Amino acid sequence: MNILITGATGFIGRHLVQRLQQNHHTIKVVSRNAVRASQMLGVAAFDWDYATQDVPAAALHECEVIINLMGESLGEGRWTKARKHEIYASRILSTRKLVAAAPSTLQAFICASAIGIYPGKGDDLYDESFQVSDHLSFMQAICHDWEQEAARIEHNGIRRVSIRTGIVLGDGGMLKKILPVFKLGLGGSVGDGRQWLPWIHIDDLVSAYAEAVQNTHYRGPINAVSPNPVRYREFATMLGKVLNRPTFFPVPAFILKLALGEAAALALNSYHITPKRLLEEYGFKFKFDHLTTALDDLFAKTVH
Ligand SMILES: NC(=O)c1ccc[n+]([C@@H]2O[C@H](COP(=O)([O-])OP(=O)(O)OC[C@H]3O[C@@H](n4cnc5c(N)ncnc54)[C@H](OP(=O)(O)O)[C@@H]3O)[C@@H](O)[C@H]2O)c1
Repeated sequence: MNILITGATGFIGRHLVQRLQQNHHTIKVVSRNAVRASQMLGVAAFDWDYATQDVPAAALHECEVIINLMGESLGEGRWTKARKHEIYASRILSTRKLVAAAPSTLQAFICASAIGIYPGKGDDLYDESFQVSDHLSFMQAICHDWEQEAARIEHNGIRRVSIRTGIVLGDGGMLKKILPVFKLGLGGSVGDGRQWLPWIHIDDLVSAYAEAVQNTHYRGPINAVSPNPVRYREFATMLGKVLNRPTFFPVPAFILKLALGEAAALALNSYHITPKRLLEEYGFKFKFDHLTTALDDLFAKTVH
């Protein structure tokens, strides 16, 4: 199929482009820097500044599937007013423009979303049937509005999937950030360590996206998290074990809040999430359903 990917130069995108090429799809990407994107990925790339321009027509020519991954990173420090605006607009406005520009050849719109749509507290287990309330946190508001914008494409009879992604483990994202500290033997839990961490191995996430391209039964919100989430404390202990390092150094919640302000929620919130639809409706087979096997795999190959 002819697939257009946004945010393809990012952590998830780079892996996804490779997999979709192996599956013999034809890939185009849009990027803030098309020359760099084309060199990095070896595919046709088009410049797009979502804030000031419409989606380039050449990128959409004969496009059958759009995969929308782009967005300002949430994990790069404090959420200042300006960063909050960019985090929101780079997802919501770009999605709105992509939906408005959908060509007549389009069959599916697959858009990133995140487990941040759930409340982020306590031990209750959430699945895709959860209804978002009116009292939204910043992360909930982003994910909710992102999914609403994507869902508008359904008015044109086009299939839409929102991949509610957990913490992706691989050679990027959160693991890459915390790894230097753990390697020094200075890692540990965060807050009281009881918060749930809804992880997923990058290979499984990429498989979920690849399935969403191919399988027309994939529709609506889909949780992309492993079936066996762990608490943060357990995660830190297991990571220390595969690295053969101690994990005696918990970071108290108040220190994290002082350092990161509102963005501390990324580490302190508790997300007990199940991939109900992947398991029950689609019979999705996770390659890595336990954290130990996921970490063993990553440390045997990529993250070092
Ligand atoms: N990684 C995770 O654990 C995780 C978890 C939940 C949800 N997600 C979501 O999945 C999507 C992909 O994640 P990722 O980890 O691959 O992200 P990433 O590595 O940060 O890459 C995102 C890409 O988006 C583009 N981008 C970044 N800031 C932008 C801005 N201000 N304006 C326009 N484009 C911008 C960049 O592409 P160009 O430089 O080529 O323009 C970048 O390569 C994101 O939307 C993220 O929120 C990720």
